[in-house]
Amino acid sequence: MTVKEIRNKFLEFFESKNHTRVPSAPIVIKDDPTLMFTNAGMNQFKDYFLGQKTPENLKVVDTQKCLRVSGKHNDLEEVGRDTYHHTMFEMLGNWSFGDYFKKDAIGWAWELLTKEFGLSEDRIYVTVFGGDEKEKLEKDKEAAEHWKSFIEERRILNGSKKDNFWEMGDTGPCGPCSEIHIDLRDDANRNEIDGVELVNKDHPQVIELWNLVFIQYNRKANGELENLPEKHVDTGMGLERLAMVVQRKLSNYDIDIFQSLIHELQKEAKILYGDDEKTDIAFRVIVDHIRAVSFAIADGQLPSNTGAGYVIRRILRRGVRYGYTFLNLKLPFMYKLVPTMTTLFGEDFPEINDQEELIIKVVKEEEYSFLRTLESGLKRIDQLITGSGDKVISGKDAFELYDTYGFPFDLTSLIAGENGFTVEKKEFTAKMQTQKDRSKADADTETGDWVIVQEGSDTEFVGYDHFESDSKIIKHRTIKKKDDEMVQIVLDKTPFYAESGGQIGDTGILISSEEKVEVIDTSKENDLIVHVTKKLPSNLNTVFKAVVDKEKRVLTMNNHSATHLLHAALRQVLGNHVQQKGSLVSNKILRF
Ligand code: SER
Repeated sequence: MTVKEIRNKFLEFFESKNHTRVPSAPIVIKDDPTLMFTNAGMNQFKDYFLGQKTPENLKVVDTQKCLRVSGKHNDLEEVGRDTYHHTMFEMLGNWSFGDYFKKDAIGWAWELLTKEFGLSEDRIYVTVFGGDEKEKLEKDKEAAEHWKSFIEERRILNGSKKDNFWEMGDTGPCGPCSEIHIDLRDDANRNEIDGVELVNKDHPQVIELWNLVFIQYNRKANGELENLPEKHVDTGMGLERLAMVVQRKLSNYDIDIFQSLIHELQKEAKILYGDDEKTDIAFRVIVDHIRAVSFAIADGQLPSNTGAGYVIRRILRRGVRYGYTFLNLKLPFMYKLVPTMTTLFGEDFPEINDQEELIIKVVKEEEYSFLRTLESGLKRIDQLITGSGDKVISGKDAFELYDTYGFPFDLTSLIAGENGFTVEKKEFTAKMQTQKDRSKADADTETGDWVIVQEGSDTEFVGYDHFESDSKIIKHRTIKKKDDEMVQIVLDKTPFYAESGGQIGDTGILISSEEKVEVIDTSKENDLIVHVTKKLPSNLNTVFKAVVDKEKRVLTMNNHSATHLLHAALRQVLGNHVQQKGSLVSNKILRF
């Protein structure tokens, strides 16, 4: 069976058990500030478990694109050096939201693995949660009982909290889990050492295949576990590992999807995979990384200098450098693997199909721009390595490599490591911080305390219907920026539109019987609408006529509408990855 067939069999099996097939969530997370990338199948279902949202279907099946390259789960450094780590992988999962629980989850897992995929029963071991005194949690006897109907007792092992109590993070839905392991060793080895001894011991051929999590608690911020109103099932099985087992291989990279990519890369490099461990590592790194990067770009995450974009850039650059150094590829080459990606994944993940052209363009551009400085950067590292007696690259030099040659820190450490060198991380981090502080200092402002004029905190916004209102001052404060001093005023009622979503804030005037004060900008601070003026009105306790510069606002509104039209047109012509970022809408121009 190919990976595609295996994936399908999993999905169809659970569909036959009345599960609804749902698409993978994007690999790039847009609305959870605690997570950059999807790192587990359950991320997208978190709110169902916590009872904060009601699911449409109680039984669901999917394959989730996961990326483990930052935060709690980070496998980047391992990828390529061994045969079973990946940056991106697919996690197959079946889900019950308050529907079935341990009995069915266990029964179906057994049926699928042994009957449908035909795995040998005597190679399977399972673990159940053995209890934890500190948490006052008992052994999961219920799961053990269910397993007994399928597997002899000596192969049901008790696991610790570390291995058999699954938690998403410091807080959130969690519960005991039961893992299914498989022993792939040959008979001679199996007779010599009992598989029981090797479960969860990092043996490359006795591996965890599937994790069945029984979500029944919520971990609160104070560390306590609270019972959830409903009980749920969250299972996760690595598709690449399952394929390795089903296809009877001993390395994830020998399964068909990676072999197809390796085959293409061999043509480019004119070197064969399997000839030499050094070049093999490069092959594995590159085929893994092009997959991760292609999926990330297809989900709208382009390589960039910050945040998630920088993580993607680092992955891509790691691939380019491995090709450059070990496969002698001095011109862009990774983008040439993208059409194979489309053939392999385009049908099951339409985004790869739809965005193929964009992925090729972006990867090629990135490769070109990195290759331009790579050579000089590598020369610089060479000089540093030959010139140093103590086998250490200073943080200052690592920073120069980052700042001038675009070498991510982990790339410098990798090259250093290959030459028996270490890099001073502390000094590097300090240099990065100084650079950040400097740019922050340039923008530093001194903010005075609010002075309350009258009680009340809410401003009524009337600007959608009116350009004028009778308003009173609630509070004001002074802002000093370099040599400039300004006043911020909050009104009880205002027609002034505050800058947001790229649209500039309104300008206008506050008129009282005594004076006129010009409003030079309107901004937002959380829900506050803040009017910026050059001076404080002399009489604060009077009624002002707040008047917006109408002509300017109407022109700005026109440009705002035009931005939406342009956005829609660009999506139609270029594709759904087009996102409106850093746009500016004023009375004179729109920038997109
Ligand atoms: N949540 C579990 C995991 O990520 C099972 O899906 O391993």
